[in-house]
Amino acid sequence: MLRNRQALIPYLLLVAALAGGVLWHESEKVPGLGRVVSTGRADIGGPFQLTDQSGKRVTDKDFRGRYMLIYFGYSFCPDVCPTTLAVMAQALEKVGDRSRRVAPILITIDPERDTPKVLEDYVKAFGPTFVGLTGNAAEIKEVEKKYRVYAVKKPLEGGNYGMDHSSVIYLMGPDGKLVSFYDEAISPDDLAKELKQRL
Ligand code: NI
Repeated sequence: MLRNRQALIPYLLLVAALAGGVLWHESEKVPGLGRVVSTGRADIGGPFQLTDQSGKRVTDKDFRGRYMLIYFGYSFCPDVCPTTLAVMAQALEKVGDRSRRVAPILITIDPERDTPKVLEDYVKAFGPTFVGLTGNAAEIKEVEKKYRVYAVKKPLEGGNYGMDHSSVIYLMGPDGKLVSFYDEAISPDDLAKELKQRL
């Protein structure tokens, strides 16, 4: 993610939307709140059809029975994406054997440059179980929308570009539904603790 003040505004809005959704969900469990005004959980996530780093077409259903730890980013990201993916890798290592129940997944927000081959080289740096998913522009837009991801291309000097993007780690359950989400700033220890509680 490229940090600048403008980029922070939609990011904060996203965090507020995510937090609002989850708080709303949590409130159902709070006794004494009175009438239950809603059922169901925050509407984040849903079906997707993408291509993995080996070129194979995959859907969300291929991960049923396992947790998905999903991060939206891109391989050309100079800072936040690799740092966050490394946190995921370290957390899974700390979880130990039970981490086999978790599929760590990078979904690219930059499908133009993140071909399966590029993702193959990139994700293996984080561990053998990491999955890199890409797709055509429409497929990526659709999955971004479902996960309320903010991602916008920003031209850089020299004709290149970076991506401004939200940076959230999503934990989806074995049923494919949202369990929780974490800020990019979470430590490997805290993420490991979160995962251990839920696996
Ligand atoms: Ni990034």
